[in-house]
Amino acid sequence: MKYAITDDFINRLRAESDIIGLISEYVPLKKKGKNFWGCCPFHHEKTPSFSVAPEKGFFYCFGCQSGGNVFNFLMKIENIGFMDAVKALATKMNIPLPEVEKSAQELAKEKQLNDLFKVNDMAQEFYHSCLTKTSYGKSAREYLASRGISLPVIEKFNIGFAPPHWDKLSQAFMERGIDSQLLVNAGLAIERSNSNGVYDRFRSRVMFPITNARGKVIGFGGRVLDDTQPKYLNSPETPVFNKRHVLYGFEHAFKHIRDSGKAVVVEGYLDVISAHTAGINNAVASLGTAFTTDQAKQILRLSEEIIFAYDSDAAGQNATVRALSIVQELGAKVKILSIPDDKDPDEYIRKHGAAAFTDLLANADGLIDYQIKKAFKEIDYSGLEGKVAVVSKIVPVLAASNNAVEVNSHIAQISQTLAIDESAIRSELRKFIVQIKKDKTVNGGKTINKISLIKKPSVAVEQAEKSIIRLLYDNVELIPTVQALLSVDDFQDENRQEIIKFIFDAYNVEKKCLASAWYTDLSEAANVELSQIMLTEIPTDDTAKLVNDYMRMIRLTNLKLLYEEHRLRADELERMGDSRFLQELAESQRIKDEIKKTHNS
Ligand code: GTP
Ligand code: MN
Repeated sequence: MKYAITDDFINRLRAESDIIGLISEYVPLKKKGKNFWGCCPFHHEKTPSFSVAPEKGFFYCFGCQSGGNVFNFLMKIENIGFMDAVKALATKMNIPLPEVEKSAQELAKEKQLNDLFKVNDMAQEFYHSCLTKTSYGKSAREYLASRGISLPVIEKFNIGFAPPHWDKLSQAFMERGIDSQLLVNAGLAIERSNSNGVYDRFRSRVMFPITNARGKVIGFGGRVLDDTQPKYLNSPETPVFNKRHVLYGFEHAFKHIRDSGKAVVVEGYLDVISAHTAGINNAVASLGTAFTTDQAKQILRLSEEIIFAYDSDAAGQNATVRALSIVQELGAKVKILSIPDDKDPDEYIRKHGAAAFTDLLANADGLIDYQIKKAFKEIDYSGLEGKVAVVSKIVPVLAASNNAVEVNSHIAQISQTLAIDESAIRSELRKFIVQIKKDKTVNGGKTINKISLIKKPSVAVEQAEKSIIRLLYDNVELIPTVQALLSVDDFQDENRQEIIKFIFDAYNVEKKCLASAWYTDLSEAANVELSQIMLTEIPTDDTAKLVNDYMRMIRLTNLKLLYEEHRLRADELERMGDSRFLQELAESQRIKDEIKKTHNS
């Protein structure tokens, strides 16, 4: 069936749904004041930090910072997409979905996908029986046993064996009425080049079925039993098998990733299988190809932390560096595990046991530590040139952090190891940040995140930004005042920028701010931020004055940062003998005057 799900329908569902009733199906909730509290279903905890505000329709966990509306809750707890959450909620509420007729084209597409799932499922059964029930499977059974893979593990991962003949699977399936074209489309068979007919793609290989998050077989990886090349043969891309999307083991891992708040990403099939067998159930593999944004996003819907446990060889380490830049951009908490003595996780676990690997996981390095260790390992820093090289390699890493405390402790550690002054590193860091800010201003003028390294990000400003948003929610009439004095860029945090922009835009169009639209039009991260803001208690008397005080604090903080930036640039220009330093000085003086005025306002 195809449905016409409109914004109106979504808003109706949200407005009529009972968020307390829904969440109570998963977690017992207790009323305390206006809100309800319980133990968070998204991370392990003993004392409740998960709260739900029924009037506003939000939930938020103060422990793991997950939050959102009814739809976000269903998406997260059931690991489904937005549309599926809408359908699930409508079903629970007994509200029929508005239906539309499907076109012939849509019906054909649906049949194509179903056929592919079906034939892949049959192939999984076929290979699995070959491995477990036939004499062809004997060598593969022995091979798997030699790698420590027992029968229950073979069953859990539905491992199989492709027989050594040219067309066993194709013949068997065609006898059962399967069209040879479907076998080709599914990547199970290949067309013969000269005569007609097809032959099996996979022969004499141990077969690892690859499933999607819901356990449907979408493709295969086949490993040889000896040293023949290629070692692995994978299904080609098909309408159901997208290599950039697939995470091997996700079907088994997703609940554990959600519960533990962490995912372990490894390279290969056998790394996943060994990890799960050793009780590390939150492991998935990116399967040899470079880790993609798409894979990262699937994990980040469930947990914030990703631990990379790639092979310790050069290829694995290069893959790690590439993966890091991807997840860092998405704001994940990243750890990197270095496996000793050039092993991969599978070998390490089999040699040293599950507990030793769990220890490695617990002691995995954070992003900065990893990069610092890497720089120290790769660069000979005994001479001055080496020290400079290490510093210039590490400075961008430090600049990307927004945790001033952490950055400071790293600076101390680097200065010790290199035997150079801390101030030398600090000055390089400052130069680097000023340079990025300049580049960004030149490239399109969008203001970048405020300098948060030289100074600790201010908790007071964060509080002020949140309070303003919170107060505007109930006091729409204050929006024009705020809009007159603050711009979106004055807010420090990207999510709060998105929220305030949304408030301003909505007000400019309709002179009001329809609360229900807040849920559907904001990004997931902004939605989480908004939920937290909504569930935080703030003073509410003399709203107009509060808003004014908060605005003044934000403006002052931003002006001071701006002042500092112009001063730094003036210093630098003066040192280089560039007379433009005078303009910078004049500008910084102007900002200083503005700071004084704002203080007295
Ligand atoms: P084992 O040698 O069986 O332990 O496999 P491994 O997982 O340790 O293999 P390796 O570290 O060499 O490769 C990691 C992953 O890359 C594998 O699980 C495959 O997904 C993929 N891969 C490795 N070799 C090949 C290959 O020859 N062709 C293709 N397409 N993929 C490969
Ligand atoms: Mn291996």
